[in-house]
Amino acid sequence: MIVPMRPVRCGRILATAAVALAMPLAALAQDRPAAKPDLKRGQEIASSICAACHGADGNSTIAANPKLSGQDAAYLLKQLNDYARAAGDKGARVNSVMSGILGGISAADRVHVAAFYAGQPHKPGVARNRDTLEAGQRIYRAGIPERNVPACSGCHSPNGAGIPAQYPRLAGQHAEYTVAQLKAFHDGTRRNSVQMAQIAARLNDAEMNAVADYVAGLR
Ligand code: HEC
Ligand code: HEC
Repeated sequence: MIVPMRPVRCGRILATAAVALAMPLAALAQDRPAAKPDLKRGQEIASSICAACHGADGNSTIAANPKLSGQDAAYLLKQLNDYARAAGDKGARVNSVMSGILGGISAADRVHVAAFYAGQPHKPGVARNRDTLEAGQRIYRAGIPERNVPACSGCHSPNGAGIPAQYPRLAGQHAEYTVAQLKAFHDGTRRNSVQMAQIAARLNDAEMNAVADYVAGLR
């Protein structure tokens, strides 16, 4: 066992050294991924910077600010990295509030705070519009076949909890926030998912409102 391990380890060290030499030092310090999420550090960042808008436990009570609790950590981290990209970047998620905040948060701290919020218990929400509930449920479960809109449940799972690490939780999210995201995908202001841009492009406002209200109450 010991004999084959040594060359492998040497190879890794050499490869790392080569990459390190090729990278400018500043970029290295900023973008080096954290080895392991540090939940205590994550909580410190959350309570000092994020809690005012997202809640100390990620269950935001303000409809424009998304709930982060119980969301997949890899999804949260991807969003933080996408906000931190330059606005012109193809995969960027542009939002003046979040992009401004992310400027001051290191790549390692993003890992910590994403893991912290992902681990917080999610508080469910409620649907508010009885009149559109059935239409919303139909779109969620069956899509709109005549316009090639796939069922949301196919990727976001039947109960809306998402499928880690690719498909985020939608269940329990504030409807206002969900509608804003569908519009942003539709209009091309949120460009960090080709799949969602194509789907949202085929939805009208009434359909967005209906499905968003339905998922708010899904559990
Ligand atoms: C001043 C209020 C404010 C503060 C402070 C704030 N956020 Fe946000 N956050 C928002 C708003 C508003 C959005 C929705 C932006 C959009 O439409 O893209 C958002 C979106 C997000 C999203 C995307 C969620 C999703 O479901 O895609 C994540 C992740 C996030 N914030 C994490 C954080 C973290 C971590 C911090 C602290 C470091 C933080 N936010 C601080 C207001 C805030
Ligand atoms: C083919 C898979 C797929 C289908 C079908 C799908 N989605 Fe998504 N959705 C995704 C992926 C992937 C993301 C994450 C995008 C990213 O990384 O930013 C996402 C993200 C979202 C978000 C953003 C969540 C947040 O917290 O900001 C909303 C809202 C959403 N989807 C709604 C829907 C609705 C409504 C439907 C049905 C009409 C639907 N999706 C169907 C793959 C899918």
